[in-house]
Formats: sequence, C-alpha cells, structure tokens
Amino acid sequence: MTLLNPMTPREIVSELDKYIIGQSKAKRAVSIALRNRWRRQQVDKSLRDEIAPKNIIMIGPTGVGKTEIARRLARLANAPFIKVEASKFTEVGYVGKDVESMIRELMDYGVKIVREEEQARVQVRAQELAEERLLDILLPPLPKKRPGSVVSGEEAVKGEKEEQDNAREKMRELLRGGRLDDRVVELDLTSQPTHMIEVISAGGLEDLGMNLREMLGSMMPKSKKRRKIKVSEARVILIQDEASRLIDMDEVIKKAIELVEQNGIIFLDEVDKIAGREGGHGPEVSREGVQRDLLPIVEGSNVNTKYGIVKTDHILFIAAGAFHVSKPSDLIPEFQGRFPIRVELDSLTKDDFLRILLEPKNSLVKQCKALLKTEGLTVEFSKDAVLEMCEFAALVNSQTENIGARRLHTIMERVLDEISFEAPERSCKEILVDGKYVRERLRDIVKDKDLSRYIL
Ligand SMILES: Nc1ncnc2c1ncn2[C@@H]1O[C@H](COP(=O)(O)OP(=O)(O)OP(=O)(O)O)[C@@H](O)[C@H]1O
Ligand SMILES: [Mg+2]
Repeated sequence: MTLLNPMTPREIVSELDKYIIGQSKAKRAVSIALRNRWRRQQVDKSLRDEIAPKNIIMIGPTGVGKTEIARRLARLANAPFIKVEASKFTEVGYVGKDVESMIRELMDYGVKIVREEEQARVQVRAQELAEERLLDILLPPLPKKRPGSVVSGEEAVKGEKEEQDNAREKMRELLRGGRLDDRVVELDLTSQPTHMIEVISAGGLEDLGMNLREMLGSMMPKSKKRRKIKVSEARVILIQDEASRLIDMDEVIKKAIELVEQNGIIFLDEVDKIAGREGGHGPEVSREGVQRDLLPIVEGSNVNTKYGIVKTDHILFIAAGAFHVSKPSDLIPEFQGRFPIRVELDSLTKDDFLRILLEPKNSLVKQCKALLKTEGLTVEFSKDAVLEMCEFAALVNSQTENIGARRLHTIMERVLDEISFEAPERSCKEILVDGKYVRERLRDIVKDKDLSRYIL
C-alpha cells in the first residue's frame, strides 16, 4: 500500500510555510497529527489498533487559512481528503444517517488515488500493447495463403513473413513519429449508456444511488459500436482500454479501503454551527442531533460503501470553525472528547497580507501575472502598490466585514479590472502597477463605505 510520507513535523511545517503565512500553532498541531499516524503504524500490532487519532479543532475567524492548511496537509500526505460542511447536516432534507455519505465520498477519493497509482504503474505496458493493437488495425495481418503465388513452400512463407515484419516496423516508426496521427481508422468501442444512471443518482438518494448505480450499470446492454476516429484519438482510447485490463480492480479496492482507513482525512468545516445544545428552529435537524449522528463516525464505526465496509476508527478528523457565538465547550462532551487538540488561528494583519501577496508559491500576485502573461502582457507591481493594496484590504476589513485574506482577492480584481479587460488589445505590453495607480482605482470606492460594501 501507499506508504505514509515519513516527513518529520519540522519538515511538514516548512512545507506548509511555502503556502501559508503565519498560523504556526495550527501548523504545528497538524504536523504532529500527521506524524502520529506514521508513528502508529510502527507500533506493535496489538497496541496499534488501540491508538486513536488525535483529532483537531481549528478555531479562527474566516479567511485566515483554516481550509488552506487542511488542504495542503492532505496533499503532503497524499491521503484521501474531503471537506464537509458540518452545517449541511442541519438542513431540511437531511436525515441523520446521511452523515455516512462523507465516508462514501472519501472512499471514492481513495479508489481514485489508488487507481491512478496503478494506472501510472501499468502505463508503459499499456502503451506498448496499445501500439501493437494500432499496428494491427493499420496493417492487418496478411491472409495465410495466397493462391496463385509463383514461389511455393517454406521459402515463400518465410519471405512473406519478413516482408510483413518490415512493413510493420516501418509503420511503427511512422506511428511513433506522429506521422499517422491524422489518419482515420475504424475502432470498435464499447459504450455504456450512462445518462439514465446519472439522472437517478442526481436525485440525491445517496443510499439508493450506491447500489442501484452498480446494478443498473451491469444491467444495461453494453453497445458495441464501430467508429471512425483519428489515430491520435484511437491511441488514447486503446491505452486506457489496455490499462484497465492490466489493473486488477479488486486489488485496487482492497488497497483503497486500507488507505482510507489508515490515512483518510476528513475536514469538518463550520463545526461551530452545530455547537449549542438547544434544538434547531422549525424543521431543522437539531444541532445536538447532528453531533450525535457524527459521533459514531468520529469515534469509529463500520460504514457500508459500494466498495465494501470501511472502518472509521483511524480516520483523522480536522474540525474548523469561527466559534464567534458558540464555544468548543458548547459541543456535547463526547464530541469534545474526540477532538482533544484545540488550536487558535490568528487574525491576519496588514503585514501578513503583504507576505501573503508576495511569498507563497502560488501567491495572488504570481497568479495574476501568469494569467496576464498569456495575453503577452508583462505586469509588475511596485513595492508601494502592494503596500497600498494591503492598506486598503485592512481598512475595508475593519470598516465592513473582516473576511481575512479573501479581501485581497476582491481588491486585486478591482485594481486589475481595466488591465484585464483591455489586455488583448493593448499596444503597450509592459505595465507597471504602482501605488498611484492602486490609489486611483480604489480611493473612491473605499471612501464610500456603502459602495465598498458592494464592490469590494
Ligand atoms: N495565512 C494565510 N497564508 C496564505 N494565504 C492565506 C492565509 N489565510 C488565508 N489565505 C488565503 O485566503 C483564502 C481563504 O482562506 P481559507 O479558505 O483557508 O479560509 P478559512 O480560514 O478556511 O475561512 P472560513 O472560515 O471562511 O472557511 C485562500 O485563498 C487562501 O489562500
Ligand atoms: Mg474554510
């Protein structure tokens, strides 16, 4: 099975540092949690099963990096990861049992990871096989006997065979060189009518969808259809076809279940919205009710998925919430007990904004530059332009609503609005965005609080 990445906590934090500014307490907590899973796997089998994951609650205002930390962590761990809004379970139309759907979703993800790994493993072989099949189509093997042939006997057979092999190798060369890509060939394609299945599962009947989809899938007649397609397309289809023959799906599922059970991470967002012991209003499922529904899954239970039973005992849960109104202590005690680690995330300051704009590998400034580069524009931001944007972001956050680093996105869009719109037609391809430009673009909006409520 996929090995857990044995990164040390320090390495994990430094990896997270490449994307997330500040929030060192939260980074520490998640890095320890991840390392603990690796530690657990080293422990003697008899004790291993006893060690429960130390689930985490991240507490902090909106837009300060909670989701981002969890997402990056999952990437590092190459673990199946999903994000669920806890509050969705309080909505009308959800019954308690539906919380199990998140395990199913996680399992789908796990299967996807393992299948892709397997696919990569068999890729070379699949390519080879696909090439042979393409050659068979392009150069059908000659009929065994050619009546009226002047040469007879073994000589002839040998000669023909040689000729054929030569032709095949020449064809192979052409094929590899991409010279035949546009040639049209005929290919038998098996297609499964999927529309009807999708309609049914779109109804949100997740439980039903689970088995029914499979059942219907195997009931539907698989239609074989001869189609004319280009060699380049046929190659892709044949590689996929060969790959799926080489992959043992039962093995994939077995590995995926193991991966999900041992390494799965569920990010439970907006958990503050289900805190509080009073019932919901009207037809809402009560918040305490949702906690009680979630409890067995967090504590460890068996969930039935279309791939088989998945044990949730060792899945890591990272919960997050602003906890403005409610407090973690408003959660029911059993629930609190399953989330022993609490970390607070800090509100972001102007200085954090500055670093967020510039430092992360995927920083907003880098993203915007890259997007405009596709139009042939070279955009530079002067130091004071970036500073101005941060000032404005902090100001608008304090005047209207504090949406954290997300404010930088709205500010950036506003600043680049004109450049973005005119980019394809601009004659001057070098643009310097300076402080003056930023002020011009934003001043009037920021001055007018009502306006900035709508625009920024
Ligand atoms: N500390 C940070 N460093 C770098 N980028 C950040 C940071 N905080 C937030 N961002 C950026 O701001 C955006 C929103 O962050 P994120 O989704 O993590 O917020 P959140 O804390 O989960 O908020 P919410 O409570 O609303 O879910 C993301 O695009 C993220 O890249
Ligand atoms: Mg979030």
